[in-house]
Amino acid sequence: MYGKTPPCTNLILSSQIPKVIVSCIDPSPGVNGKGIEVLRAGGVDVRSGLLQQEGEELIRARRIFVQAKRPYVVLKWAETQHGLMAPAENVRYWISSAYSRRLTHRLRMEADAILIGAATALKDDPELNNRYYFGKSPVKAVISLNTELPASLNLFQGGTPTLYIHSSKRPSIGLPPGVTCVSIDPEKEELIPAVLAQLASRNIGIVLAEGGAQTLNSFIRLGLWDEAWVFQSKTAFIQDGLPAPRIPVPCAREETLGADRLLYYRNRIPA
Ligand SMILES: NC(=O)c1ccc[n+]([C@@H]2O[C@H](COP(=O)([O-])OP(=O)(O)OC[C@H]3O[C@@H](n4cnc5c(N)ncnc54)[C@H](OP(=O)(O)O)[C@@H]3O)[C@@H](O)[C@H]2O)c1
Repeated sequence: MYGKTPPCTNLILSSQIPKVIVSCIDPSPGVNGKGIEVLRAGGVDVRSGLLQQEGEELIRARRIFVQAKRPYVVLKWAETQHGLMAPAENVRYWISSAYSRRLTHRLRMEADAILIGAATALKDDPELNNRYYFGKSPVKAVISLNTELPASLNLFQGGTPTLYIHSSKRPSIGLPPGVTCVSIDPEKEELIPAVLAQLASRNIGIVLAEGGAQTLNSFIRLGLWDEAWVFQSKTAFIQDGLPAPRIPVPCAREETLGADRLLYYRNRIPA
């Protein structure tokens, strides 16, 4: 039995590869160094620890999933240079540039699920899929504990598996095909850890939380996030509106992206 990909150990042995250099050890249960033992027992010269830091970087999301038993959480939003993420009035407003949008869709492709809150689902009515980058569209998830979302919303269309996270009462709308109701009772369990546990139980290893502010802030408040991508527009102008979240760690990297600045943040790996 194995997960998404078969172990390479048997292939290495049958191909009689004499020497293998390992960067870091896969922490997955049932793996965790066992492949190295098998290879050594089969006469292969195995060295480990080369470029270990770079290797750890590559398996960062996997390590969180295995050790913290939750998906790797990527936060993403767009804000004006004055730190607002939506205008006060009830209108849709694009803050970031076409370059940023393309990169956002790459982040969607790399994620196993995209998550938003009920207010964003209602106000922005996003399709929540990957249209501007190649590759797959992830599972969609919406937290809407008390709001009855209309079945006509874009996020419920298209047949992509969608999780409607609701309070213990089942939503009364007829759920469209592909939409599954996930019940969470916030009086019995803390919402965000319960949401992450539900996602992990569905083998979702990376979740991209796209907003709005309440949803993003609830991850930040609990320290349950791993990366944040903030697209800061130099040109968008909103006078009065919804304050964007603030990240409690210094920015790790800053880039220019068309008319935007990309601010990239990293949280420390939980102990
Ligand atoms: N600039 C950007 O990148 C960006 C991205 C996304 C959205 N937005 C904007 O953000 C605005 C919406 O943001 P928002 O902060 O008002 O709302 P939101 O986070 O989109 O949704 C809030 C709702 O989600 C549920 N929810 C999420 N987290 C929860 C928690 N920890 N505890 C309880 N319920 C939780 C609740 O639904 P129930 O009330 O049903 O329980 C809550 O009312 C819109 O104007 C949208 O245009 C901007």
